[in-house]
Order: sequence, then C-alpha cells, then structure tokens
Amino acid sequence: IADIRRRLNEVRSANWRERGEPITVGLVPTMGYLHDGHASLLKRAREECDIVVLSIFVNPIQFGPNEDFDRYPRDEERDLRIAEANGVDFVLLPSVEEMYPAPARHSLTIVRVSGVSESLCGASRPGHFDGVATVVSKLFHIVSPERAYFGMKDAQQVAVIRQMVRDLNFPVEIVACPTLREPDGLALSSRNVYLNPEERAQAVVLSQALSRIDGWLAEGVGAFELRNRLADEIRRAPLADIDYVEVRRYPTLEPADDELAEGEYIAALAVRFGRTRLIDNRVFHVR
Ligand code: PAJ
Repeated sequence: IADIRRRLNEVRSANWRERGEPITVGLVPTMGYLHDGHASLLKRAREECDIVVLSIFVNPIQFGPNEDFDRYPRDEERDLRIAEANGVDFVLLPSVEEMYPAPARHSLTIVRVSGVSESLCGASRPGHFDGVATVVSKLFHIVSPERAYFGMKDAQQVAVIRQMVRDLNFPVEIVACPTLREPDGLALSSRNVYLNPEERAQAVVLSQALSRIDGWLAEGVGAFELRNRLADEIRRAPLADIDYVEVRRYPTLEPADDELAEGEYIAALAVRFGRTRLIDNRVFHVR
C-alpha cells in the first residue's frame, strides 16, 4: 500500500535512507490524472529502483494566465489506485500552499534554463519552462532521488531538465521514456479528455503526419520541405489550428539547416483543436 505524504516535512522524515544499505530512489513527477503514459514511467522506475516516489502536483506557476490551471483534470482517488497497482512506495501530494507558501507567491526564486527553453513551447507559452524547472528542482531537493523519469511526449521538457541537471550539478540521472499512444496513434495526454468526439477523431493527424517523416527523408527532403509537408498534412484536418510545426536539432533545439547534416533532430508540433492544445513530436536520426 502506497504511503501518502501531503506535507513536505513528512517527506524529509521518510526514513527510506535509514536502512543502512545503499538504495536507489526513483522519482516520477506528474500533475496527476494518471494514464498509461504515466504508468509506463512508474513501471520503468519500479524495475530500476528500490523505492519509487510518485509526485502529483498541478503546478500553478507553469500555467499562463489564460491557460487551463483551474480546469486541469484532477482525480486523486483514481490516481492513488493507479499508484497502488504500479507498486509505488510513496505518493507526494502537496498542496499549492505547501509548495509555494504565501510570501513566496510574490517573491520566488525561479530556475530559468536559457536556450533550450526559449523556442517551441517556450515561445508559445512564455514562462512555462521557468515554472517547470523551478518545480522540478524543488522536487529534486525535497525527494533527493538517484533517478527521475520523464516522458519523451514532452521532449523539450526532457531537454530543459537535462540542461538544468548539468548546469546546477543535480546528482540525479534523468531517464527519458518513450511516448505511449492510443491504438490510432494519438499520444496519451491528461488533456485528451477535453476533446469532443469530432476533435478526438481529427487529432489523429498529428501522429499520422509524424509517421510519414521516414518516407519523406528517404526522398531526400530538407528541413524546410519537411516542416511544410508536416504542416500541410495537419491542415487536412479542418479543426486543426496550428500553433507551431518545427524541425530542430535535438537535444539542443538549435534551428536545423535546410540541408540535414548527420545527427539527431526533432520534428515538434503544437496544434489546437477547439480550446485544447495538443503537442507531439518525433526525434529522428539523419545519417
Ligand atoms: P504531466 O503532464 O502530468 O506528465 C508527467 C510525466 O508523464 C512527464 O514526464 C510526461 O512527459 C510523461 N508523459 C505524459 N504523457 C505521456 C505519454 N503519452 N507517454 C509517456 N510519457 C508521458 O509533465 C508534467 O506533468 C509536468 O510538467 C511536471 C514534469 C510534473 C512538472 O510539473
């Protein structure tokens, strides 16, 4: 049975390091409303770590003023059942007041990772990655994990956290896990529940577009043409409203030259269906 901790001082007093022998603590940070994508991170952590800590915290400072913080889906009871089913040892469930005590909301130390956090979602959601880097660094200090598990669904988040860990010397190994998808290809996301049936049906264009990349590369298309073909493919869905479609280097997120030199790249997209903004990406290698 998972041990629930709502107060940060109860985490400090969690005696998982007082058994004498060296142990590996794995942290899976989430905002809850857990789905199989989150569960895949918990399973991986369970395989690799002695103690698995799941954090569930809808982090207000990573949401913009006109974003969905207030209506972000929440279901604590269901989350705890999923935690249990995946063998989680500790669930960290702090309140907003616990993470950001009153004075701090007006005067808060912010972790800002420049460069990687400025393009893509960082450009369309100003301040988002400052909020992510700040809360993840707090969680790293609170839990002191040896490993932390993140999904490639949020590939830019992985790049930002890796950069932060290097720059600030966090003794944490970042483990990036593959994106879990619905049978039709739609990447699992807590936000998929916002989609009406028509939007849900059309949202499949995101993964369909990304799945054509290998074929296009085999034709020898450059970065510019690749980006345009992805955008054209997405526009075939009448309800799709493109926020961005970009091809960049990964993990630096530097712009790609049109002629794709050997190395790692990411094709990343953010598309609105009605009020719901979905993201997806594919990291690919060019030889
Ligand atoms: P959240 O969106 O709840 O996601 C928690 C973790 O689950 C992230 O690492 C995310 O990449 C991963 N994840 C989401 N959908 C996935 C999928 N379909 N397949 C595999 N992994 C998936 O990301 C956040 O929360 C927050 O920004 C957080 C890191 C917790 C900081 O507040």
